[in-house]
Parts: sequence; C-alpha cells; structure tokens
Amino acid sequence: MNIFLLGSGGREHALAWKISQSTLCSRLFIAPGNPGTALCGINIDISVTDFEAIKKCCIENAIDMLLVGPEEPLVKGVQDFFKSDKSLQHIAVIGPSQQAALLEGSKAFAKSFMQRNNIPTAAYREFNGENYEDGIAYLQTHALPIVLKADGLAAGKGVIICQNHVEAIAEFELMIQQAKFGEAGRKVVVEDFLSGIEMSLFVLTDGEHWVLLPEAKDYKRIGEGDKGLNTGGMGAISPVPFANETFMQKAIERIVIPTIEGIKREKLDYCGFIFIGLINVNDDPYVIEYNCRMGDPETEVVMPRLKNDIVALLLAASQKKLDEVKIETDDRTAVTVVAVSGGYPGEYQKGLPIDGLDLLQEEDAIVFHSGTKQENETIVTGGGRVLTVTSFGHSIKDAAEKSKAILEVISFDGMYFRKDIGYEFY
Ligand code: AMP
Ligand code: GLY
Repeated sequence: MNIFLLGSGGREHALAWKISQSTLCSRLFIAPGNPGTALCGINIDISVTDFEAIKKCCIENAIDMLLVGPEEPLVKGVQDFFKSDKSLQHIAVIGPSQQAALLEGSKAFAKSFMQRNNIPTAAYREFNGENYEDGIAYLQTHALPIVLKADGLAAGKGVIICQNHVEAIAEFELMIQQAKFGEAGRKVVVEDFLSGIEMSLFVLTDGEHWVLLPEAKDYKRIGEGDKGLNTGGMGAISPVPFANETFMQKAIERIVIPTIEGIKREKLDYCGFIFIGLINVNDDPYVIEYNCRMGDPETEVVMPRLKNDIVALLLAASQKKLDEVKIETDDRTAVTVVAVSGGYPGEYQKGLPIDGLDLLQEEDAIVFHSGTKQENETIVTGGGRVLTVTSFGHSIKDAAEKSKAILEVISFDGMYFRKDIGYEFY
C-alpha cells in the first residue's frame, strides 16, 4: 500500500524509518519531511495544514493510508476533511476526528471527559471572562503550588506552575484579560498540583479495541538534573523502571480502559494513537494530559523497541481488528538523546552546517533527524531540536553512553545535549 505521512520532526523520521521496514508499504511519502525522512521515502514540500494540497497529492499518488504525525492538522480537522470528501473516503486515516482531538486541543474538554469517565486526574475548575471574579477568589485560597492551563494548543507553553498567589493571579489575568495564549487561552483550567514522577503511555486504538505500545519517559527541561526551561523534549527512555506490572495494571484498569470506554460511550471517532501523560503519585497513576498523537522524542525510543510491523498494526487499526494483534517488544533498553541548537528553547540560529553524519557506523544507534535541512550537498540545522540519537543497551546508563558517544562524533556550532538522560535510574 501507499502511505502518506504528515510531519517533519524526529517523530516522523522514526515513524518513516519503521514504516520503510514493512513489506506492506509500497511507496511512502512524507510532507513536508526532512533530510532524515528522505532516506525512508519521498518528501513532498507541502504544509501539514494545507488540506487541499494534501488531497491533490494523495489522489495523484494513489495513497491508501494517511498517518498524521503532529496534533495541529488533527485539531484543525484533517480526519473530517478526508471523511467528508468522496474522492478521499477510501483512504484510511490514522488520527482522530476534530471532535476527538479535543482531548489534546482543549484542556477543559479533556478534564471534563476524565471527570465524566471517572479517570484519576488532578481536581480542577474552569474559568473564563464570565466567571473571572470567581476565579480570582478561588485562586486566593487555593493550596500552593497552583497549576494554570490555557485551554487551547499553546505549543507546549500553556501550562504555568505558580509558587505563590500573587503570581497565580497575575498569570490568570494575563491569560483571560490579555489573551496571553491567544483566544482559546482565554479559558483557563486551574488544577491541583500533583507531586510525583511522570511517564507516558502510548495506546493505539481503532475506537473499539486497543493495544499498548512500549511506554516511555521524556526529559523536558533544558538543563541537566531537570533544571531550567521547558523544551519540546531533550531525551527519552524506554522501558520505564517504575512502570512495573502492578503499576501498569493500575494504569490499564483505571485509565486506559475507562478512556477507551469513554471514547465509545461519547461516540468520539477515534482511530489512532493516544498519548497519555501520567504521573505516579505514591504508586498510583493520574492523568496529566492526553495527546492525540505520538510523542516526540518518545517515538524515537518506542518505534525501535516495537517488534511488530507498524504498517500491519495501522492496517489492523483502520479495519477495527486490533483485537487480533499482539504487541511484541524488544526487551532491551532504548535511550534517545536530543542535540539542540545553542540558545534553544529561546532564540537560536539556523542554517549551521552539521559535520560528522557521514562518519557514523555504529550498528546499535540510529540517528533521527528532527530540525535539519538539506542545502545543496550539506545538511544544516533548521530548528531548535536538530538530531535525536537512539541507542540500545543493557541498562539505561549503557544506552545513554552509546548515544552520547555518537553525538561526540557529530558537531555544529553551538550544539548542546543533555548528558544525563535517564539519570534517576543509573
Ligand atoms: P501538559 O502540557 O498538560 O503536559 O503540562 C506540562 C507539564 O506541566 C507536565 O508535563 C507536568 O510536568 C506539569 N504539570 C501539568 N499538570 C500538572 C499537575 N496537575 N501537577 C503537577 N505538574 C503538572
Ligand atoms: N515529548 C512530549 C510531547 O511530544 O508532547
């Protein structure tokens, strides 16, 4: 079959890398892709939200399946666009409908979904311009710290953890009165702070059945020891040591099953990945967030550990046959380390030549491109997160050491990476 993959980051390179290993895939197109995905298929220079251009390309290339990498096209309704167009209806879309993508696209929708379905999550209230004064009163007596979440997509920046009431009220005012995170962020979820260690579950569902992919934990802060600013993700590990059988059983019974049951009961049209961000509070799992797609850089450890043919899995999902599938996982530990541009997550330069990529021969490691560009014969930096190197090892430390050794061979001006990914488990 012919597959069309939307996106251009490390996640999409990891998906393209896995898809290209499948005998079920005849031709793979990636839009817009990057120099890494160009090694796995054909890049097409169109934007992930240009639905008309995507349609034209799918028809011209006899596409059978659309796999949506990032959230933006889903939240903007790419699945609905395909389902409502006669010339596209035969194409299987892996990704939820616009309504179902609200699980990621609206924090308020996700919280009320969890409440309706008795899924453990932090207690919360929802405020907007109309009950603004109630919100201020609520904040004044709220236990510290206080978590404020802008309702809509905010490129990973819409969550603010406030250590005192003055800060919380100031941020609340900025979000609702000044639209700090845009119009959708004028609605704010205020929730209790949960203390614990986080991890991510990846569910693939056909709307009826579900399978669990290998779990992962990402490292969001720029600095070692989890210090400094939040980023898109600086590295990830899989498996997660504390996700033992007892903990996973609780997560499945209390979270995964009720989530799928909720999706069915509420008639959400969902065929695709659900990324569940969990927090472990005294050995009990709580949901921090839902995402309607795979994680980045988590996909860069999940796909290498997944032994199944990914296309067979996606096909089964599109045919509502996931109950016939058994997930097989590589027992080894995988660690991915992200090399970022100097200055990231603040301002950074682009277009810097990347040296050393041609020197790599390490069998155990895979170099995924995140933000790179091809300029004539040279691969240059093109984003904050530039490359993601995944290695297998006997332990987390061993795998992290291998990824770091690979990154020592690669260089570009200002390159930075965390040397402590997985450090709590060394
Ligand atoms: P989100 O965008 O919802 O994933 O939130 C971003 C990050 O904020 C999460 O990965 C957590 O580290 C943190 N966070 C969000 N909600 C809470 C909460 N209720 N308690 C503690 N930390 C939280
Ligand atoms: N690594 C977190 C995310 O993909 O949202």
